[in-house]
Amino acid sequence: MAEKKLRMGVIGAGGIARTQMKHLKTYPDVELVAAADISEANLTKATDEYGVARTYADYQKMLATEELDAVTVCTPNGLHCENAIAALEAGCHVLVEKPLAMNAEEGRRMVEAAHQARKQFVIAFQWRYNPKTQFIHHLAKQGRFGDILVMNVAALRRRGIPNWGVFGRKDLQGGGPLIDIGVHVMEMAHYVMGAPRPVSASGQIWQYIGNRPSDVACSWPNWDHESYTVEDLAVGQIRFENGAVMNVQASFAAHVKECWTFDFMGTRGGADFETGTVRCDEDGYMVDKTPAFLPKVDPFERKMRAFVDTALHGRPNEAPAEDGLMIQKMIDAIYASAEAGREVPIA
Ligand SMILES: NC(=O)c1ccc[n+]([C@@H]2O[C@H](COP(=O)([O-])OP(=O)(O)OC[C@H]3O[C@@H](n4cnc5c(N)ncnc54)[C@H](O)[C@@H]3O)[C@@H](O)[C@H]2O)c1
Repeated sequence: MAEKKLRMGVIGAGGIARTQMKHLKTYPDVELVAAADISEANLTKATDEYGVARTYADYQKMLATEELDAVTVCTPNGLHCENAIAALEAGCHVLVEKPLAMNAEEGRRMVEAAHQARKQFVIAFQWRYNPKTQFIHHLAKQGRFGDILVMNVAALRRRGIPNWGVFGRKDLQGGGPLIDIGVHVMEMAHYVMGAPRPVSASGQIWQYIGNRPSDVACSWPNWDHESYTVEDLAVGQIRFENGAVMNVQASFAAHVKECWTFDFMGTRGGADFETGTVRCDEDGYMVDKTPAFLPKVDPFERKMRAFVDTALHGRPNEAPAEDGLMIQKMIDAIYASAEAGREVPIA
């Protein structure tokens, strides 16, 4: 008997969908049945380059016409909520690209829809599959760091405002670097911490570069400064139920040394993602350790394989949408605190 295949549909066939389809088309247990997009050019690419069988200008029509087992949502953030809920209600397992949604209110409705539909709902967080994250997470789970007290995370670009898509549009994206790239380093750090519940946050955001013309040489020049309504730089501090604190920094544009990392201090040890170094006390000495070898893993490929394994083969969901909702609550609270000018609670 032929192996059952996961019949998949794609909503939003742009840049990240192509990275996803590059992997999906190589899986023998996946059939790329259909894609929906408002861009005909992107639909043509989906057919020609990734073998997608049928295409639709209207994703609702795709959901109504095709008998899909699973859908991946790869649209701009502002559409994640309606796309994911429609796919869940159509009886599909859903993978939604990061961030989960525009805000936690949308995220709550999405998670509730998944419970109602009794379908797997996975957030496309790939950084937890990075071999260094896996190494540090493994040690944290064994209790090797004791209690993690302070976690510092940073996703800092010096001049890296996307000059494609709608990443500068607050109305379509929900925010700037915090929700777009801060979300990545926050998710891997929060995963290493064992996903404690956030209870309050304090934050500040600034916009002083992206909203005006610039002649500074950079790799992504000529972004649309006229429609740029998001922050250039965001900082925040989140308190967790267990007393731990996370400090967050994220920028599209700032006078800063670029980095993409987390580091932390625990009661028995610490570590940093950038170098993979573990810091602890051993035999009366302060010791730094790094792994001599880490398996070569493409975290993005791992996330796609993990989704298929969960949706088709019933394996545990390693990135539940609830994890995305917790990160979303932290992001919302940093933005809300910046607006209010004081620390705000997280419900
Ligand atoms: N996991 C990652 O590392 C990663 C990287 C980049 C982007 N993303 C996320 O992926 C999402 C998309 O980003 P992208 O870089 O692919 O953007 P993109 O602009 O390249 O693609 C978005 C696609 O959605 C389509 N679209 C817009 N409105 C639509 C509608 N009403 N119905 C159907 N399709 C519609 C657009 O035509 C486009 O093809 C964002 O949420 C982003 O945060 C994730």
